[in-house]
Amino acid sequence: MKKLILITATLLVAATVSLRADVTENWKKNCASCHGNDGKGNTKAGKKAKVKDMTEAKYQEALTDEKMAKQIKEGMKEDGKEIMKPFGDKLTDDEIKALVAYVRKFKS
Ligand code: HEC
Repeated sequence: MKKLILITATLLVAATVSLRADVTENWKKNCASCHGNDGKGNTKAGKKAKVKDMTEAKYQEALTDEKMAKQIKEGMKEDGKEIMKPFGDKLTDDEIKALVAYVRKFKS
C-alpha cells in the first residue's frame, strides 16, 4: 500500500512538471522572433517592429516588473496599430511573471 501511494505521488508530480511549460521554451516560442534569443531584438521581425535592446541598463531601469507584465498581458499599440500582440489568453500569470524575470536577466 505504501508503495502504491509513493508511485501515485511520483506520477502526480511528474504530470504537474510536464504541464508547466519551461520559461525558456515560452520565450523561444512566443517572444524570440521579435526580441531575439538574447533580448537584443536583432531579428528580421524585431528590426521591423523596432524593438528596443533589452540588455541596456536604461531600458531595464525605465520599466517596472508590473509594467512589463501588463504589456505582455495586454500587448502594445502604437498609433492604434498593434506592434506586440497580447499574451494574456495564451500564458498564465505565473508564466508571464517568469518571463518578466527572464527579461530582467538580459541586463548586462
Ligand atoms: C511581433 C513582435 C513581438 C513579439 C512576438 C513580442 N514582442 Fe514584446 N515588444 C514588441 C515591440 C514592438 C515592443 C515595443 C518596443 C520595445 O519596447 O521594445 C515590445 C515591448 C515589450 C516589452 C516592454 C514593454 C514596455 O512597457 O515598454 C516587454 C517587457 C516585452 N515586449 C516582452 C515580450 C515578451 C515576454 C514576449 C513573448 C511573450 C514578447 N514581448 C513578444 C514586439 C514583440
